[in-house]
Amino acid sequence: MARDIIIALDEGTSNVKAVAIDPAGRVVAKVARPLSVLTPQPGWVEQDGEELVAGSLTVLREAIARVGETRIAALAISNQRETVIGWERATSLPLAPALTWQCSRSAAFCEQLRRDKQEARIRSVTGLPIAPLFSASKMRWLLDSLDEGDMRAASGEICLGTIDAWLLWRLTGGAQFRCDVSNAARTQLFNLQRGEWDAEMLALFGIPVAALPEVRPSSGAFGVTAGVDGIPAGLPILAMIGDSHAALYGHGLGKAGGVKATYGTGSSVMAPLPVADTAITQLATTIAWHDGERYVYGLEGNIPHTGDGVAWMAQMTGLTDGKGQVLSQALHDLPASVASTGGVYFVPALTGYGAPWWDDRARGTVSGLSRGTSRAHLIRAAIEAIAYQIADVIDAMRQHPDFHLHTLMVDGGPTQNAWLMQFQADLLGCPVARSDTPELSALGAGLLARRALGQLNDSQLLPLLPEHDLWQPDERRHVLYQQSLAGWRDAVQRTLWQPH
Ligand code: G3P
Repeated sequence: MARDIIIALDEGTSNVKAVAIDPAGRVVAKVARPLSVLTPQPGWVEQDGEELVAGSLTVLREAIARVGETRIAALAISNQRETVIGWERATSLPLAPALTWQCSRSAAFCEQLRRDKQEARIRSVTGLPIAPLFSASKMRWLLDSLDEGDMRAASGEICLGTIDAWLLWRLTGGAQFRCDVSNAARTQLFNLQRGEWDAEMLALFGIPVAALPEVRPSSGAFGVTAGVDGIPAGLPILAMIGDSHAALYGHGLGKAGGVKATYGTGSSVMAPLPVADTAITQLATTIAWHDGERYVYGLEGNIPHTGDGVAWMAQMTGLTDGKGQVLSQALHDLPASVASTGGVYFVPALTGYGAPWWDDRARGTVSGLSRGTSRAHLIRAAIEAIAYQIADVIDAMRQHPDFHLHTLMVDGGPTQNAWLMQFQADLLGCPVARSDTPELSALGAGLLARRALGQLNDSQLLPLLPEHDLWQPDERRHVLYQQSLAGWRDAVQRTLWQPH
């Protein structure tokens, strides 16, 4: 039988999936597993690096077994971005828990950079604002926390990687220390224009290049599996890409003029750009991917807490089953059971605020409580907060001359909530189109691996992409929700450390 299947791993924050994709772009098998997230102190968010590997290997093994080892043409990886893990090169053992993208423990270092007036320079080189979200300040924190961290990193004894690099290292048995350009572009150490680690940024953050992976295009040869832990030997890994970027590829949005929002633990709103234009200071400019032939850039707004804020509110209000899992049907039914939030706003800045306000010290608030406030109002406020945050980022994107909002393309777990989709369409006053493949990040990575096999070019891409379900806006509700949006923005201002 021909080797016709790509297995794409989508390593997210709250779960990891392996998806088998056939030559027509169809998902023919899927295996998922939850991951734990630890919050040892307020504002700190960690994950166990070994658990990320074990979970990834488990779903990969099972997906490979389902389709049969002899049919696997290649592996692809899409991953949570910005998260940093350090490991010892000689033993492949993590030196500390992975510091996840949501973690704001390096906020003080970031504040010092701002006081030192480094913001404009960092943005012009990397496309990113100063924020603990990005990997560089987390790497700095990690080296400071280790005995002789700087010296060991400079000697190459320590590897500092994004999650794609960590998984590749383990899958190849330590043979390859590489990451892709989209992940590198999220570290704040990568020169957007030149497409290489930037000497000035490395010096500013004190990160030796000897500790960093080699950077490669998102589509191409990264290495082959070493044949350990039950994964067959010799499978080529032909794509690695950040999950939000992979979803943009999976929506077929490689040319300027489109925009997509990925809804997950947090959310990423991204619009493709033909050049690395860093003029809009409320947003990040990033490399969307390098497909082996050319770069595509992205204008992005990162929102740290969206689905995560709803999960937090559901847990706080007891909307969980006996195992602590959130009751997802209730998240659909409860908001619809009340006409509005009754004036309640929940601003879920649980570890700070990302785009477009970028405030590390902001913390969450619930405002507008009254004696009549019920759980339904609180849950509705948490779900509305997802849509408001996305609307705030889209408003910032309107400053870009090439940006036009015709339809918002959406993907990710929370988009299964039809009430949220309708609310988002009504709020924005434009159609919302949900990919009918929930595994869009995995699909995007898988298609980039197919491209590296020489089995896919740009003109063949669109027919392989999934259909979309559409929600049309209602004009009357649009007017009403615009008033609520004004109330939301007041609530955000009260949450910020330094109101804008
Ligand atoms: O930037 C962080 C993002 O990549 C995390 O994705 O899927 O874990 O919410 P997810």
